[in-house]
Amino acid sequence: MLRTDQAENLRRLSGLKRDRMHAADPRERAGRTRVLAFTGGKGGVGKTSLAVNFGLSLLGRGKKVVLFDADLGLANADVVLDASPRYNLGHVVRGQKSLVEIIHKTTAGLDLIPGGSGLDELVDLPPARLGVFLSGLNDLEGLCDFLIIDTAAGLSRTVMGFVLAADDIITITTPEPTSITDAYATIKYILRRNSGARIWLLVNRVSNLQEGKNVANRLVTVVERFLKTRISVLGWVYDDSKVNLSLRRQAPFYLEHPNCPAARAVDEAVFRLLGEKTPGRGVGGIINWVKNLVLDQPLRRAARYHGQ
Ligand SMILES: Nc1ncnc2c1ncn2[C@@H]1O[C@H](COP(=O)(O)OP(=O)(O)OP(=O)(O)O)[C@@H](O)[C@H]1O
Ligand SMILES: [Mg+2]
Repeated sequence: MLRTDQAENLRRLSGLKRDRMHAADPRERAGRTRVLAFTGGKGGVGKTSLAVNFGLSLLGRGKKVVLFDADLGLANADVVLDASPRYNLGHVVRGQKSLVEIIHKTTAGLDLIPGGSGLDELVDLPPARLGVFLSGLNDLEGLCDFLIIDTAAGLSRTVMGFVLAADDIITITTPEPTSITDAYATIKYILRRNSGARIWLLVNRVSNLQEGKNVANRLVTVVERFLKTRISVLGWVYDDSKVNLSLRRQAPFYLEHPNCPAARAVDEAVFRLLGEKTPGRGVGGIINWVKNLVLDQPLRRAARYHGQ
């Protein structure tokens, strides 16, 4: 929880005014932005593929979606979407553009906030630049129904910061034992810092329904037993050759092959997610994360504890 003086200090740094956050902006009437983070611990489990196609499924249901490529080391959502954005987060970090200004409309219809490569300096931004960044995040509130954050692999402070800031955390695992172990470690990390986090489990690359159910049940049971928390199962996605084929063609499988098993599974998972009515914290969750990085210490301590 931010102390009042911390919040006040931050407001000064960012130049945000209380009344601006509650202004009668037409975007606000559209409702609050729900922030989803795709994570998984292990690399290559399908975070980017599923985040992009999830976004497209939501788009198909009339939702306004912005995809935030938060893989600051090796951004690649733009590659999956065959987009060549002129600007990326690097320009925001350097104070040349605002977040809203770098939103790139992809031909697939998704709005993309392109990541940048080698942007680890983001977490150590000097306060003045942080202010610009913060203002930009605030502008995203109400601009879309869903902000989907595609995170990098691992449990680094940056990754977990984004994850902890989200309303819904979608943890992806494959049936591989190492992937399951990493998903469990990620869930444990999250619950230690936010016992009330809304965590969903998505099993990717299953060869049949039973395998998906078995992996999900195993993880749910272990989390319940050792972490005393019941996580929800969002579903399972088949190992589907169309996913890789589409990736190579830089055309999302959801659009190229709308009836392939993976696309249908994404639709089902989105349906489950939309059935969840609990209101989220919105983009304010991310703003609090950035505040924490500068003014609060728990994430730094947590990162040291994990040897990051
Ligand atoms: N359901 C699936 N069926 C077949 N292949 C898949 C499936 N999901 C993902 N893949 C393949 O797995 C590889 C990794 O996918 P992706 O890049 O989405 O993973 P990631 O978790 O974002 O990786 P990173 O940790 O590097 O960011 C890609 O080649 C992709 O085509
Ligand atoms: Mg990725």
